[in-house]
Amino acid sequence: MELLKRPRRLRANEVIRRMVKETSISVDDLIYPMFVVPGENIKEEIDAMPGVYRYSVDNLVKEVKEVYDLRIPAVLLFGIPSNKDELGSEAYDDDGIIQKAVKSIKESIPQMIVITDVCMCEYTSHGHCGIVRDGYVQNDETVSYIAKIALSHVKAGADIVAPSDMMDGRVKAIRDVLDKNGYVNTPIISYSAKYASSFYGPFREAANSAPQFGDRKSYQMDPANSNEALREISLDIEEGADIIMVKPALPYLDIIRRAKDTFNIPIAAYNVSGEYSMIKAASHMGYIDEKSTVLESLTGIKRAGADIIITYFAKDVAKWLTIL
Ligand code: PBG
Repeated sequence: MELLKRPRRLRANEVIRRMVKETSISVDDLIYPMFVVPGENIKEEIDAMPGVYRYSVDNLVKEVKEVYDLRIPAVLLFGIPSNKDELGSEAYDDDGIIQKAVKSIKESIPQMIVITDVCMCEYTSHGHCGIVRDGYVQNDETVSYIAKIALSHVKAGADIVAPSDMMDGRVKAIRDVLDKNGYVNTPIISYSAKYASSFYGPFREAANSAPQFGDRKSYQMDPANSNEALREISLDIEEGADIIMVKPALPYLDIIRRAKDTFNIPIAAYNVSGEYSMIKAASHMGYIDEKSTVLESLTGIKRAGADIIITYFAKDVAKWLTIL
């Protein structure tokens, strides 16, 4: 057979495959999400997320030390408060759970980049991401709370804030309040294209943050929409976002790719709880191999155009990458 083109020539062995590899994952790309609860000496596994824990601040700091030793550059913190109320008041309490956690981490491991999720759903009794009136999550009123929460996180020492509420105008409001208070150099990672997704199920168990009535469809995006994601991203960039995010990751690779082709800004993708738990469950059952499936998934997310990947697999990946 006369064949001039034989793509298999470049696949002949491991070494030549390494030479032509287009995408690789580095530990520098990873952000590790973590859950913090009130109390002492607590490390409780989340039922729906095997291998992921809720930590009290003392144990969280120990764990973050390990994360730092693995060379993972950043953690993303979620707080579960002792009390929830209508206004989510612990979210902006300077002695709230996140504020305490941030202070302790920055005292012991100052080089670790601490990102805080800025939202109200873990703190409100109704479980919605903002202030509810007449059964509707009020936009502008919520935005003023979101800005207040962000400022209180930054005052506690947060290096980056990440608003995940999906209210209109929150990036601008956060930028304004941070700048007015002298934090002009604190970046914002905006959850710009955050879809109303069923893949957040395990997270809501972890954070006990499921909405007590209705759903999040009046603020999070419709999974059917793609052009709208570009509008959301472009608004967030205009309002001052430094990094934009697409969430979830695997069912939305096309959105990541369109964002990459359209905007010149770092893109983060959130490989969310449901994506994590599905791989955990299937590998536990012996249906798939965990390590190779995770590495393939994250490679896909990077290949689609993500610069940064937020994943509950970050520690495992960091270990696998060093002993490959
Ligand atoms: C808070 C928030 C959620 C997630 C991140 N920030 C839950 C939600 O919007 O219901 C989900 C993360 C995950 O599933 O891993 N708004």
